[in-house]
Amino acid sequence: MTPSDVKATLSFSDGSPSMELPIYKGSIGPDVIDIRKLYGQTGKFTYDPGFLSTASCNSTITYIDGDKGELLYRGYPIEQLAVNCDFLETCHLLLYGDLPNEKQKVDFTARVTNHTMVNEQMQFFLRGFRRDAHPMAIMTGLVGALSAFYHDSTDINNAQHREIAAIRLIAKMPTLVAMAYKYSMGQPYMYPRNKLSYAANFMRMMFATPCDDYEPNEVLVRAMDRIFILHADHEQNASTSTVRLCGSSGTNPFAAIAAGVACLWGPAHGGANEAALNMLEDIQRQGGVEKIGEFIKQVKDKNSSVKLMGFGHRVYKNYDPRAKLMRETCHEVLGALGLGNDPMFKLAMALEKIALEDEYFVARKLYPNVDFYSGIVQRAIGIPVALFTAIFALARTVGWIAQLNEMIADPEYKIGRPRQLFVGSVKRDVKPIGQR
Ligand code: CMC
Repeated sequence: MTPSDVKATLSFSDGSPSMELPIYKGSIGPDVIDIRKLYGQTGKFTYDPGFLSTASCNSTITYIDGDKGELLYRGYPIEQLAVNCDFLETCHLLLYGDLPNEKQKVDFTARVTNHTMVNEQMQFFLRGFRRDAHPMAIMTGLVGALSAFYHDSTDINNAQHREIAAIRLIAKMPTLVAMAYKYSMGQPYMYPRNKLSYAANFMRMMFATPCDDYEPNEVLVRAMDRIFILHADHEQNASTSTVRLCGSSGTNPFAAIAAGVACLWGPAHGGANEAALNMLEDIQRQGGVEKIGEFIKQVKDKNSSVKLMGFGHRVYKNYDPRAKLMRETCHEVLGALGLGNDPMFKLAMALEKIALEDEYFVARKLYPNVDFYSGIVQRAIGIPVALFTAIFALARTVGWIAQLNEMIADPEYKIGRPRQLFVGSVKRDVKPIGQR
């Protein structure tokens, strides 16, 4: 961290001594005021529920400029990565800091594909779930259970363990998501096919059966790969912060990633892709484009709690660059499948147009986020709505593990332990039960 020449001074209106606070400069983005000594020197905490003004760590992985609508992985714009690289190159970039050269790519791909199978016992663990369990409930369990199967990579303080756990997680997530899907369908699991690309292998495990060969469609494989790239990391979002906080206790990497999966499930985060598609289906059922006006009215009504899912973002106050790329992919996929007139896509575009012109959304800088279009693409590929968030988890695993490893390797890292403003009862005495 580079110290700034400028210092912040904190003064108090009651005459308590003021305090000088150091400021650090990032390579880009806002500076931070270092408040680590604040409690020691003033006996006061800062108060920032929801982390609206708090940088919880320093990081070299992902940078977002929410006002410009810019997303960089290790300095590379997402638009360039989405067009020029595949998902495993992106994983290498996030994990090790740079894009692989040809030899590094071959080595990395070989290391990942070497670990795509899961312990055969996993299927018996999976059998304990109801067939109609939500895939994210299953994924939370399966990812956590990896620590019970891979004892030789559970020491988070051992760099080699962290490396092998990272590779295992990236390699096994597609297998686990596909197994969860096959289980829900009552179909046999398909073993990974390592000569296929990462995305093609996943699609084959999802859609092939032992009775029929599955020829992955190039356009759909590219779309799947792009979904993976666009969801691979997004700096200190809720699930990533969960992974960091969980991992900061020294727990094993599989347990920390399982915590991330659980957090991602929520509809304000990764669950938004499922919620966005359910919302579009609802509007479609009620009359489609004609009903948009009525729906927008409900969204704007403060008493209704209806939200335009797939819109708005804590950081982006401009068009989410991932949503632009996803919209492009939507065109490609629907075109390739002869679904150019897909009513859901038309509805989404009409809804987006109206929302972008509406004063409510303009004033609050609410733009479509990646989830607005990713559901339409996944639905066209044949992925059931309930599985969308599990696919997000699959893609985000590399980001989680890169962030976790960055934290553990940081010599300044400590267990995460926020403080609180206590507003409950002051000390009181317990009365005998008859007198309460
Ligand atoms: N529809 C209607 N109004 C909204 C929406 C929305 N989708 N999002 C925010 N607002 C309003 C909100 O009611 C508030 O209005 P007011 O100032 O009048 O009270 C204002 O905009 C600011 O919203 P906020 O809730 O303070 O913003 P936040 O930063 O806390 O929330 C968010 C961000 C993503 C949780 C929220 O925009 C949201 O719930 N969006 C819908 C869910 C969604 O699409 N989530 C996916 C995020 S991208 C994928 C990922 O990274 O996980």
